[in-house]
Order: sequence, then structure tokens, then C-alpha cells
Amino acid sequence: MASAAMPTVPLPAAPAATAPAVPPDLAALRGEVVALRRDLHAHPELGFQERRTAAEVARRLQALGLEVKTGVAKTGVVGLLRGDHPGPTVLLRADMDALPLQEDNAVPYASTIPGVMHACGHDAHTAILAGAAHALVARRQRLHGNVKFVFQPAEESPGGALPMIQEGVLEDPHVDAAFGLHVWSDLPVGRVGVRAGPLLACADKFELAILGKGGHGAAPHQTVDPIVTAAQVILALQTVASRLVDPLQPVVLSVGSIHGGQAFNIIPNKVTLLGTLRAFDRELVRALPGRIEEIVRGITAAAGATYEWKYTSYYPPTVNDREMAALVRRAAEAVVTPAGIVDHLQTLGGEDMSFFLERVPGCFFFVGCNNPAKGIVHPHHSGLFDLDEDALPIGLSILVGAVEDFLKAR
Ligand code: NI
Repeated sequence: MASAAMPTVPLPAAPAATAPAVPPDLAALRGEVVALRRDLHAHPELGFQERRTAAEVARRLQALGLEVKTGVAKTGVVGLLRGDHPGPTVLLRADMDALPLQEDNAVPYASTIPGVMHACGHDAHTAILAGAAHALVARRQRLHGNVKFVFQPAEESPGGALPMIQEGVLEDPHVDAAFGLHVWSDLPVGRVGVRAGPLLACADKFELAILGKGGHGAAPHQTVDPIVTAAQVILALQTVASRLVDPLQPVVLSVGSIHGGQAFNIIPNKVTLLGTLRAFDRELVRALPGRIEEIVRGITAAAGATYEWKYTSYYPPTVNDREMAALVRRAAEAVVTPAGIVDHLQTLGGEDMSFFLERVPGCFFFVGCNNPAKGIVHPHHSGLFDLDEDALPIGLSILVGAVEDFLKAR
């Protein structure tokens, strides 16, 4: 998940009581997957710089006999497994990038790169997907279709999914469904979050400059005060979520930065604001920026000020297909039992898995990874983030189960 993680739901009280049912051939891959995760954790790389990670992934996929493409969207890697029988193609996606953050954990596999850390769990995603490739190669006689293993750069920013799509990752062969997962620190290990419909929000940015006319703080009548105007704009923006949008529809509009003026007795010429808009509904995401600008236009005009407005859409909402979510849910129930499924989990954080799911039916899901008994309690994007590695075979088993269900004989 990209920066500004925003877990929004309360923790389920306890891990699932039953031990996860990981098939023996997949449980046998645990050591390999954990070792790769720890190796990647110790050698984190920032977005579009995942050269060591990509080389390691490509080496493993080639050793498995897959058709491998490297350098897709700079550092992305794609492996193609052709099943023993013809059929559709399913895409599995993992992100490979780390964060610009100093690791504070004293573990043997702690980051060896100062100021860079796998603090979101993308090391686990990459290791799980490499393990899934190994597992599915061994099970290829069961597959009626193909599996495309996509290791993408730069999920945290600026996003590697869209450039990979632009370079053709959804074609040759054409992709019919897409699955991906995120380890999730708000869920205990043994729990899995799966739901149909919106899962993560859009993560958009606006930049606003309010242009007035500066002057002496003792003579405000001779100025157009952009500070007072900015204050009115900020308050008016609070009505976007509360008065323009159906209250059953989650929306967040936050102003995260405000700058203007330098002295106590001078009214400045200009105030600049930065903010973010988060929402799940694609129509709302299209409509709201225009409405927000209308509010800004009206208030600045009333004050005699002008404005400059720039709105940037980063990631669209991540929306799961109903059928594909049901398929993942079945695969997850086989591993963690129906009692281990959490179906209400959503977050207003953003994810560029959304670009795949805008184009192809699919499902992105959360694999619980906290474990208070082991002291693993810190959130994503914390220098103390870590995960219970029992989550790795769980995620792996669900991906393999979902692929086999999608590619079963019909
Ligand atoms: Ni993440």
C-alpha cells in the first residue's frame, strides 16, 4: 500500500483458533520463501531501483523454466507459466519496493541499507509470489491456462503498475483475471481480509495557491488578505465530505500543508495549500475535484483574491470483482476456515493494484500478519514494522488455490 496508510477498522479480538491448513507441498516451500523474504528484507531497494531484487526474482523464475521478461517499466519482472492444458490467463502481482525509512528492528535480517527499509511488507509479497511460481510449476499438470507472475516496481510512489500495463503486461497472452495480496498489520496472523467491491481508496493530491495583495498588518483594508481567505477555504472544504456527499459514502478531504507569510506585521501576497482527497467510489472521484474548485473559486472571488489550482490523480480506488472475490474467499476459507475471514476490512489508503483491477476482473486481499505474542504489533510504514512469517505460507496457499480454481477444467 502506498504512503499514508490509514487503517480504519477495529482489530478483531483474537487470531483464528484453528491452525491454518497449508497443503504439504506448499508447507514444504516455507523455508525457501522465508529465506528469500529475509534476504530481500536485508537488502531493500527504493522504487524503480529494485535491481538486486529484480535480478534475484528473474534468476529464480528462469531456474523454474518460465518465460521471463526483465526491465519491464525499468525494473519490473514478468514470468509466464504455460499450464499443461489450454485456457485463460491469470495474473498474480507482487510489489518489490521498500521505503525511505531507517529500520529500528534489531533482527538478524534487519536492513543493511541506511535509511531504506521494507516497512510495508513488499519483501513478503515478492517472496510469496516467487514461492507461488515454484508451487504452480510443480502443479502445472492441473492448470487449464496460464499464469503470469508480475513483480512490479515502485508501488509506494510514483507507481509501477500503470507503466507495466502501458508496456503490455496485460497482453500476449491476454490476461483474464488478476489477483494480489497485501500482508496486513491490523489483522492477526491466521486472519484474511476479503471483500467484494471497493477495498482501498483513490489517493489524489491537490495544490492550491491563493493570490491576494500584501501590505501592512496594521492596514488590512489596503490589502487582499490571502491568510483569511485560506482560512475560509479550509473551513468550507470541511463541507465537501459532510454536505456534498451521501453520508453512506466514505470520503476524506485533508489539508496537510499550509504556507504563507514570514513576519507578524506583514500580510503576504500568497498562501499555498496541499491536500489529499480519498474516496472509494469511482464516479465520486471523477466529480468531486470540480466541485472543490468551485468552492475555492467562489470564496476567493468574494475576497477579491485569485487562485491557482492543480489536481493530480495518483491511484484510482481498488475495487474487487464480486465473482473473483468469492473465488478468493473460497481459497482463503480452505486455509484459515470461514471463521478466519474478515469481510468488512477497507482502508482509505491507496494501492496501484487498482490499475490492474480497473482493466481486468480480479481481487486484492489482506493477509493478517500481526502477532502480539511475538511482539509483532507495529504498523506499516513504522521503523519497527515486522511480520509474523506464518503469514507467508497462508498467502502462498491462497494465491495457489485461487489460481487452481480459476484455471480448473471447465
Ligand atoms: Ni504496501
